[in-house]
Amino acid sequence: MVLGIDLGTSNTVAASLSRDGSPVLIPDANNKDVQITPSIALIEGRKAYAGNFAENLYETLPDKQIISFFKRSFGTQDPVYFDDDKNAWFSETVASLVLRKVKNDAELYLPDGYKQAVITVPAHYNDVQRKSVIEAARLADLELTAIIEEPVAAALFYGSFNKKIDEEIILIYDFGGGTFDLTLITKSGNQLNVIAKDGVNKLGGKEFDDIVQHSIREDYEKAFGNKLPTDKLTGNRLQKIAEKIKIELNDADTPRNISKWIMVGRDAFEATFYYDIYAAQATQLIVKTEQAVNRCLRSLGMQFSDINKVVLIGGTSSSKLVYNFWKQKVGPQQELVYHQPLSSVAKGAALYAASFSNGNNQEIVPIDLKSVSTYNIGLIMANDPRRQIDLLIHRNTPLPVSSKKTYKVNPQQTEYVNIELCQFWDPQEDVHKLGTIKAGPFSLMSEFYLEVAVENRLNGTIGIKVRNADNGKDIKFEFIRKASDHKYDYQQQKSMVDNIYLNNYL
Ligand SMILES: Nc1ncnc2c1ncn2[C@@H]1O[C@H](COP(=O)(O)OP(=O)(O)OP(=O)(O)O)[C@@H](O)[C@H]1O
Ligand SMILES: [Mg+2]
Repeated sequence: MVLGIDLGTSNTVAASLSRDGSPVLIPDANNKDVQITPSIALIEGRKAYAGNFAENLYETLPDKQIISFFKRSFGTQDPVYFDDDKNAWFSETVASLVLRKVKNDAELYLPDGYKQAVITVPAHYNDVQRKSVIEAARLADLELTAIIEEPVAAALFYGSFNKKIDEEIILIYDFGGGTFDLTLITKSGNQLNVIAKDGVNKLGGKEFDDIVQHSIREDYEKAFGNKLPTDKLTGNRLQKIAEKIKIELNDADTPRNISKWIMVGRDAFEATFYYDIYAAQATQLIVKTEQAVNRCLRSLGMQFSDINKVVLIGGTSSSKLVYNFWKQKVGPQQELVYHQPLSSVAKGAALYAASFSNGNNQEIVPIDLKSVSTYNIGLIMANDPRRQIDLLIHRNTPLPVSSKKTYKVNPQQTEYVNIELCQFWDPQEDVHKLGTIKAGPFSLMSEFYLEVAVENRLNGTIGIKVRNADNGKDIKFEFIRKASDHKYDYQQQKSMVDNIYLNNYL
């Protein structure tokens, strides 16, 4: 069997295919009614707890921090947690605990276990972030056949039983716990065409939670004259309360203020949430998603009215506030649909995973996925004071695509050549440096042309090749990511996860 995993900022969901070829969710091994695993972990000495188990335990382990929102740190090389022995845990390593938990659930649930998996990533993830997810799978001993973008997976699932969408232009609007992603797709038979992508990296349910958290802190200060304590338990509880109140505000049928008594340690105080103030701030966040939608359409020379359907997925999308915002925007000819907002990504990933397996299930439909590059990809000579970007690959180019650039090198003047690899939407605003290609040392003594070839693969990751353009021979190079104090070391992180007891079963 194969597994599709939606590794979300807030929730992780896994799905597999039933005999009739339709995707089903994998339940938690401790509770068959629960099909969602919170993307959190708790580490206590040599034991780790992931998902629902960690959620149930945090009140009894008040000095332990719940490690959450680790998905936000993919690609940063910053540790997300330090354990009691001061070991640094990286986002990949914590993610691998959640993946292991889901994998264990699948092994218990599926009669023949599972063989391979597909994990989803946000469509706007850059190369480093995508490779972090692949690394997390490796740390969890998950055999990965592919990664696929979250809205694309959702589109596959949506398209699998909506045959009539052929030739329509569909906007998949994925507003989740930590990220906002959008994808424009068309479908024709079994072929799914992704025509453009966009998104906002750190924009999700968490930003809505933060509005409520801020208001709670203010009310606490008003009541007691000092700042809210910063201990772990208060932090964990505050996050939970804020999320609950946020959902109440977002889903209110009629605008109304909410008052709640909140306990912090032995102190109780009344916090009040004014609907209008909350809604105004929350709407500003939704407007940011609208700006990304417009930017994406503009990049194709299209307008909002060119879209036939808007499919809302992700937990934040399932709120009334977001729905009503878009309801006002869609015209009479356009459709606004909810489509299993919490599970369609995992189910689409399972369909995609199955399309790779050569099992003999006749019900499995082959999938022909055509996609485009998410970002512009360019190179910058590291010592160029003007920092001029040589654009190699345009965004929205059909994948896979490769392109190359040559640079004149004089080995007598320089032992190494450093070239930065970057991805961006707008060269004036958001150039993201992925790392430095350090080519050399060179064996030649005379001038030659060095050729850097960059490939953007179907899964959105980038491959690099460096050659001598004159004789075609490969040149040695190293790809150096951002240096940091705490270096991520695969072997060391792997031994940490392999030597921890993941206690997820009663
Ligand atoms: N009715 C609701 N109103 C507002 N927010 C909601 C509602 N239901 C769920 N959410 C929020 O949705 C978020 C979780 O959504 P989801 O499970 O789609 O995210 P995720 O897949 O984990 O994250 P991402 O896709 O961004 O990595 C949480 O922030 C949760 O509070
Ligand atoms: Mg999601």
